[in-house]
Amino acid sequence: MRINSIHLKNFRNYEEALIAPCEGVTVLAGDNAQGKTNVLEAVYLCCTGRSHRTSHDREMIRMGEDAFYVKVTGRRKDGLHDVEFALTQAGGRRVKVNGSQVKRSGEMLGHITGVLFAPEDLRMIKDGPGMRRRFIDMELSQLRPDYYYNLQRYNRALKQRNTLLRDCSASGASPDTLDLWDNELAVSGAAIQTARHAFVKRLAETASHVHESVSGGKERLKVEYEPDVACGEDEAETQNNLMEAFSQRRAADIKRLTTTSGPHRDDLGVFIDGMDARAYGSQGQVRTCALSLKLSEIELMELQTGEAPVLMLDDVMSELDPERRRLLISRLEGVQTFVTCTDENDLAGAKIGKLLRVKNACILPEENP
Ligand SMILES: Nc1ncnc2c1ncn2[C@@H]1O[C@H](COP(=O)(O)OP(=O)(O)OP(=O)(O)O)[C@@H](O)[C@H]1O
Ligand SMILES: [Mg+2]
Repeated sequence: MRINSIHLKNFRNYEEALIAPCEGVTVLAGDNAQGKTNVLEAVYLCCTGRSHRTSHDREMIRMGEDAFYVKVTGRRKDGLHDVEFALTQAGGRRVKVNGSQVKRSGEMLGHITGVLFAPEDLRMIKDGPGMRRRFIDMELSQLRPDYYYNLQRYNRALKQRNTLLRDCSASGASPDTLDLWDNELAVSGAAIQTARHAFVKRLAETASHVHESVSGGKERLKVEYEPDVACGEDEAETQNNLMEAFSQRRAADIKRLTTTSGPHRDDLGVFIDGMDARAYGSQGQVRTCALSLKLSEIELMELQTGEAPVLMLDDVMSELDPERRRLLISRLEGVQTFVTCTDENDLAGAKIGKLLRVKNACILPEENP
């Protein structure tokens, strides 16, 4: 897919900006804290319905303003798609797709598809399982609104169940209503696990061949879904497994005031030549793995939708050694890419289509790259 325009109003430090990227690599260059990442954040918001760096949507409203507005227009094989996202200080969200207001937020997904690669992703292998779950969730949510809804449903139920556990402990009341939440968690949780299982199976295949090329044939990468509660033969059996786990762990949950089992504790196992990279990988190895996983994400999205998503590289070039940088650049062909950087020397070797300078929330006129 290809993004034609990005329009921001009172978004982060921007009063107003209109950006027309090129088909290939558009570079956003500038000093620190000028507004480069903010542009990518706005695009990501229109892809996923959330920011990649805050769960407090209001932080994105320009200080002193009442609301922000973002519109991203893009072309897919089947025609033009645009997503508009507006948020007020009161917390009201208004999302439009192709000019029509959507009733459920999941309806905005899949129109503008994107993969964001930021320095923290390079730490995905060593950081806690939360980052690895997020990697899976973000890809699946963009491709499957039902997954997004189940995740919402699960997280809401989890919050309710944990509140109940704390309330029961405070009041000494019997936690009868926990049954209700156990059931809700098992139904949505089993759907989540089924989708994750299938996704990681596809990811494993793609990541293995991508990694072979990224590591120059030196390493074998294996990724595996590691559910906290075992998956069954089918979704119904997974649901039963979850119900059983919740009931078995109930006493422990009441004691610890939190739900200690379920898909919110799943992980993605990452192994290099049979060694657990999460525990034993060297810094270089885990970075290469993260790069392979991100590149696989693009490939899988392309396989699923028939066209490549846009790629957003936020400051990653400076974090990669020249060899990996070269590898990444070699894979940008045919993928519309946004790259932010403070030093253009980090992009040596890349075919830059458009170079935009970002200065104090202004996008300066195009320079010849
Ligand atoms: N809600 C907001 N209202 C006004 N300004 C904001 C808001 N949120 C962030 N900013 C400003 O945006 C700037 C940061 O923008 P951004 O993260 O895009 O920087 P950057 O160009 O990517 O910098 P770096 O190179 O350090 O990553 C900061 O100056 C910050 O104060
Ligand atoms: Mg930045």
